[in-house]
Amino acid sequence: MNRILVAYATMAGSTVEVAQVVGEEIAKSGLQVDVLPLSEVQELAAYDGVVLGGPMIMGWHRAALRFLKKNRGAFQRIPLAVFVTAMSLTQTGETSVGGVPVYVDEKLPRPPENEGRLKFRERYARLANYLRPILTATRPVKPVSVGVFGGRLEYGRLKWWAVLFVMLIVQAPAGERRNWPAIRSWAAGLPAALQAE
Ligand SMILES: Cc1cc2nc3c(=O)[nH]c(=O)nc-3n(C[C@H](O)[C@H](O)[C@H](O)COP(=O)(O)O)c2cc1C
Repeated sequence: MNRILVAYATMAGSTVEVAQVVGEEIAKSGLQVDVLPLSEVQELAAYDGVVLGGPMIMGWHRAALRFLKKNRGAFQRIPLAVFVTAMSLTQTGETSVGGVPVYVDEKLPRPPENEGRLKFRERYARLANYLRPILTATRPVKPVSVGVFGGRLEYGRLKWWAVLFVMLIVQAPAGERRNWPAIRSWAAGLPAALQAE
């Protein structure tokens, strides 16, 4: 294995730097890494491993999901890892979903107000709910690893409907939640995780 693609989708731009840091960390192990927006990805055949990242935007970023579905055949040969950025995650303590190991940025999850009776937005923001469409899109392939990290939210850049959704459902304050040590720590394990396939 020697060439890895780190591809990303983004709405407001903060996932770009996450992808770059993931790429940097993988490159430390001597692998050749291309970090590209999904719109610039052409051929997967040249790669020995793919890392695909994108933010939660009322579900995982549509373009990232589409890319998974479109290339699920290729992922039967090329190992895949996935990362997700988000501003809201309900604490459930899960470390895997559907048999896929999940690394969760420890600063992101919030405990539910009432463990026994989750509110709608707390149920919505469960790890399994976020990841289910991703794991369905790659079926029968399973990503070797999934990382879930805090992102960055800036209300000023959003359209009114986006502000409404974020205020009602995500309920996260604007700001910077990207946890670089967590992102680097997950990414440092990727060369081994992708190679083990
Ligand atoms: C319209 C919209 C919907 C969002 N939906 C969710 C969501 O469902 N869950 C969540 O945790 N964060 C949600 N977020 C927060 C984003 O995932 C977070 O801000 C991310 O870092 C944005 O990445 P980007 O800057 O690359 O677009 C949403 C943000 C926007 C603007």
